[in-house]
Amino acid sequence: MPHVPPTTTNSGAPVASDAHSLAVGADGPIVLHDHYLVEKLAQFNRERVPERVVHAKGGGAFGTFTVTHDVSAYTRAALFQPGATTEMLARFSSVAGEHGSPDTWRDPRGFALKFYTTEGNYDLVGNNTPVFFLRDGIKFPDFIRSQKRLPGSNLRDNDMQWDFWSLSPESAHQVTWLMGDRGLPRSWRTMDGFGSHTYQWVNAAGERFWVKYHFQTQQGIDNLTADEAAQLAGSDADHHIRDLFEHIADGDFPRWTLRVQVMPYEDAKTYRFNPFDLTKVWPHADYPLIDVGVMELNRNPENHFAQIEQATFAPSNFVPGIGPSPDKMLLARIFSYADAHRYRVGTNHAQLPVNAPHAEVHSYSKDGAARYAFPPADRPVYAPNSLGGPAADPARAAETGGWESDGEMVRAAATLHPQDDDWGQAGTLYRDVFDDAARERFLETITGHVGAVRSDEIRARAVQYWTNVDAGLGAALRAALVAAGAPVEAGEPGTASTPVA
Ligand code: HEM
Repeated sequence: MPHVPPTTTNSGAPVASDAHSLAVGADGPIVLHDHYLVEKLAQFNRERVPERVVHAKGGGAFGTFTVTHDVSAYTRAALFQPGATTEMLARFSSVAGEHGSPDTWRDPRGFALKFYTTEGNYDLVGNNTPVFFLRDGIKFPDFIRSQKRLPGSNLRDNDMQWDFWSLSPESAHQVTWLMGDRGLPRSWRTMDGFGSHTYQWVNAAGERFWVKYHFQTQQGIDNLTADEAAQLAGSDADHHIRDLFEHIADGDFPRWTLRVQVMPYEDAKTYRFNPFDLTKVWPHADYPLIDVGVMELNRNPENHFAQIEQATFAPSNFVPGIGPSPDKMLLARIFSYADAHRYRVGTNHAQLPVNAPHAEVHSYSKDGAARYAFPPADRPVYAPNSLGGPAADPARAAETGGWESDGEMVRAAATLHPQDDDWGQAGTLYRDVFDDAARERFLETITGHVGAVRSDEIRARAVQYWTNVDAGLGAALRAALVAAGAPVEAGEPGTASTPVA
């Protein structure tokens, strides 16, 4: 018989039974002072924290990021310097589904990375798509509600989805991605990841550049067919979690090559479309991919709750050499995530081992629920002080970048560049990137999706939406819907928040 340790209470005292409550006589009532029973029940009631309001279902692993090419001309960030290897954590997720939802539902996939760099944590919280549905964060809560559930029936609803999308033409590029083959990745290992937003890099000389991140899978892109995805949703709802965990457990470590597009700072002002518009990609012909390094995931979590559920990834976690751009989506996210973490995990979430930086922390933050780490008692708790407490260094202000900005306070779309539009890149993706077979599958997918809309008006708007993306596609969709018994009246021209090219 192997030696087993004695069971204890949470306070470490040995307990007499995990089978019998303390009772007055074998058949009598249980007593309130059975504090061990109370502790077990109370602890159980508190096992859950709120699930993430989006990206609730996910899994992840630890690994390393290794620099293979010298990009120090563009950024001084420690993790991107020649020779650097940095420990990291990745979490992959679906977006709209809840904690127990199937991994293989059609959805964008989260691609959240935390790099434990020598100058603090750098979090890159991206997706498996280079673009997004929106270009202003004020629309995000409305958008997500339209993708989640009806208030009464608690059912997901195609009418809500297409009502929102057809009234938000900036969504067209991302919806085209979503309804295409890449909306159903076979595994997290076989998809690319993107920073999606434009970020700023700053080099050691203080020169600034705009940058987009591409993590290209070394496993090769591989997607599920719609039938495979539907079948797996029933037979193995945790298909993606299982795939990642088992490959890493078997020593088959997935890898991604990081490449970046770099735009000189001054180009942004005169580029043909707004380079900070999250609904757009930068054509590689304009800004080619530059090699940076390789990310490898090689260590499974030992405890999913402690290390993945409680992991907190925040677009506000920048390090010297990397900063935000004027993308209004990114700027809204910079508030949103740290706020979500204080609510979901707690004020001191950054002290948990999975979130704690590997660099030293000298902040003036103090106390709060579940505080674990604290500075020496003789360190002052306020700044400024004359007692040798940590001092902020104004010379470091420029290291996370910035840009010139002046004007009246307004609520308005960003200043137009000559080729800003809503539909153009969606059409290019459909016509030039998809092949014939992919276009056929795409038509089948949107026919099913739009066909499930009950409202004639919303269905007509959805057909107009796809007509704006590509006239031939719109006509084919209309014909397919009619053939399927869901006729479509001529729709209103799509509402466009910016001119249509
Ligand atoms: C998770 C807000 C746009 C990728 C979250 C969470 C919030 C949020 C509150 C949950 C955080 C948590 O509880 O830990 C927003 C807002 C957005 C936005 C307000 C727009 C203004 C985006 C975009 C991307 C993205 C554009 C990708 C390019 C993710 C990912 C996660 C996430 C990957 C999961 C992170 C994890 O694995 O813990 N978002 N989001 N979000 N979001 Fe967003």
